[in-house]
Amino acid sequence: MNILLVGSGGREHALAWKIAQSPHVRRLVIAPGNTGMEKLGELRPDLKATDADKLAALAREMRADLVVVGPETALEAGLADRLAASGIPCFGPSKKAAQLETSKAFSKAFMERHEIPTAGYGVYERLHEARQALQVFKPPYVIKADGLAAGKGVAIAPTKREAEGEIERMLGGRFGTAGARVVIEEFMAGEEGSLFAVCDGQRAVLLGGAQDHKRAYDGDLGPNTGGMGSYSPAPVFTPELVEAAERLVVQPTIAGMAREGMPYRGVLYAGLMATEDGPKVVEFNARFGDPECQVLMMRLGGDIVPMLLACARGDLTRAPMPEFRPETVICVVLAASGYPDSPLEGSIIRGAEQDFGPHVQVFHAGTRRDEEGHLVAAGGRVLNVCARGKDIAQARERAYAAIKKIDWPGGFHRTDIGWRALEREADEG
Ligand code: AMP
Ligand code: GLY
Repeated sequence: MNILLVGSGGREHALAWKIAQSPHVRRLVIAPGNTGMEKLGELRPDLKATDADKLAALAREMRADLVVVGPETALEAGLADRLAASGIPCFGPSKKAAQLETSKAFSKAFMERHEIPTAGYGVYERLHEARQALQVFKPPYVIKADGLAAGKGVAIAPTKREAEGEIERMLGGRFGTAGARVVIEEFMAGEEGSLFAVCDGQRAVLLGGAQDHKRAYDGDLGPNTGGMGSYSPAPVFTPELVEAAERLVVQPTIAGMAREGMPYRGVLYAGLMATEDGPKVVEFNARFGDPECQVLMMRLGGDIVPMLLACARGDLTRAPMPEFRPETVICVVLAASGYPDSPLEGSIIRGAEQDFGPHVQVFHAGTRRDEEGHLVAAGGRVLNVCARGKDIAQARERAYAAIKKIDWPGGFHRTDIGWRALEREADEG
């Protein structure tokens, strides 16, 4: 098979690594790809994930049997729709179906229509209406920009005054058109986790759960980021919680999208809060999480390609059920100094490309080579050090041991990835 993979982050490196292991693959093209993927496929650094027309043309030209889409920006640009027009199977939803992620107003209204548990909310375009609405919500106030804002469009404001400030900034254009509407939500207390399911438009099969760490610094402190680390399985997902989430969230979402004429094909990422009243949706994403994808790919046994293809073709019943290794995998993100606000570019990284043994994989997120061939930082999140183990303690030890062998004074990482899971493991003896 000829496969085109779209994207350039750690998520896509992990997908490329897993796809490249499939005996079905004859040719793998990755657009644009990154330095870490050089040996896994042909890279197309001249293309962007948002170049929907050019990517569709490339898929036709290379006679792709399957296109796998990593980032939501490609979905929003309509790549799946372009491919559908050419009859090329695409793992990733249409632009309309991707609204589950790309418009918070859409996804909240969808959940309301289908009685999917989530926080109560209102959507506002005018400042005075939003201000008035604050009277009926209780603190802390959850304020969200409607559209895609690279994970930065959510504010949790302890006071009404701060909430008003956030609303003013969003409606005032801080996120461009993504903030033309704001969503105000009820605050949900509980522990958060991400549940993943692969979907073929009619059916969904669970891929299991993961947790990530969104804050930049140890102790879950500091600014919000795209994610500084992750692990899977996540102990928050008890069998009861998974059962409830599948029944109350995943299945009704897939059925509802199909009924509304937007069959959902690809991976559904349900960001869930485990509340006292059961699972509630914090957000949907229309793609794998980054760095959650990295740990899922390392846990997934067997060949991923038949499953991706079956989703894209609309018949998951033809694919074998996914199997997961009975292990825990952890991912620690190495970020450039200054991330997330102003990451330092160009610092040299040594030792990242050595063989770390069978339990460790290093996925690249933002790297490039300088003229002398050194690996250098070229982004905020730069490397993902992933390790497997019999439990979280062992996986963590292996990941941090590998990090010690990487010489990169220009970067930093959190030293406490997986602390919540580790505490539970310790409690349970
Ligand atoms: P989102 O981009 O919608 O996932 O929001 C970013 C983060 O804000 C989430 O991961 C949660 O930690 C937090 N958050 C969002 N909505 C709520 C809510 N209604 N209640 C509590 N926390 C929330
Ligand atoms: N790690 C969170 C995300 O991918 O949205």
